Amino acid sequence: MRGKYYTSVLDLNREETLEVLEISQYYKIARKAGHRKQEILYGRIWALLFEKPSLRTRVTFEVAVRELGGSCIYLAPTDVGLGKREPVKDVARNLERWIDGVFARVFDHKVFYEFKEYAPNLSLINALSDLEHPCQALADFQTMIEISGDLGFHLTFVGDGNNVANSLMLMSALLGTDFTIACPEGYEPPKEVIDKAMELSKKTGAQINILRDPREAVSKADFIYTDVWASMGQEAEAEERRKVFKPYQLNRNLLEFAPSHAKIMHCLPAHRGEEITDDVIESERSVVFAQAENRLYTIKALLSFLSQ
Ligand code: CP
Ligand code: NVA
Repeated sequence: MRGKYYTSVLDLNREETLEVLEISQYYKIARKAGHRKQEILYGRIWALLFEKPSLRTRVTFEVAVRELGGSCIYLAPTDVGLGKREPVKDVARNLERWIDGVFARVFDHKVFYEFKEYAPNLSLINALSDLEHPCQALADFQTMIEISGDLGFHLTFVGDGNNVANSLMLMSALLGTDFTIACPEGYEPPKEVIDKAMELSKKTGAQINILRDPREAVSKADFIYTDVWASMGQEAEAEERRKVFKPYQLNRNLLEFAPSHAKIMHCLPAHRGEEITDDVIESERSVVFAQAENRLYTIKALLSFLSQ
């Protein structure tokens, strides 16, 4: 398995993405029946190159690689000093000599472009960057499809147009599901992401809406998603963001404006009392741990799909 990429939702087309989601469902059923081990990644070695902390992404990836028969090396934020101790292009060219793939959690998405340029034989999966979190979107779509039974749902994201929102918007556009984001002015997803989503939606029939009013945004939602107001790396802006995003808190009050069947989603970790209240995330409508569980099956599915 060399030189396969999933650095953006758009690295796989619609059919490929649906195939990964189907494989994931198979892995879920198989694992629940006690079938864990396979040899798909036998002898393969992946590095986890992480510039930021992680619970879900790291643990599910390591479990997935081990259950698929491979092994991995975790490189903590202080181990490598990506771009500080050593230029990104040198890190890429070193790793390419020894291992098969890199699962990287980075600040700057452009790191992936350097890896592709300098280490083209290295497989590369985005474990979260400033621009996207595609592996999270896979798990979230598996969760929504399981609950809805099909792709006929409407996902509403309330809050910051961040990495998680970007990947959800792109996957909605790709698969043809309806997506609304409500965010304050100046906190929309980047223009490049909106343009790509709009272009794709013309082909797939997805309705993509960018609104200001969170009440209007949740009014047709089957799923209501939120994420932190200040992502990792934006800590200095946290105080300012708390003020700007206050009207976007996912709380009982906002849920009054949503359909009663709408489920609550969050990629976690959550800042309770900020983007979401404790009672809402703990409510029966919350599917946050189903999302987290599906991180495992979707990453197994992605790894086995890419190793075909
Ligand atoms: N949702 C998610 O990516 O969680 P971690 O930051 O813990 O990996
Ligand atoms: N938007 C968050 C997601 C964490 C999983 C961040 O980047 O910190």
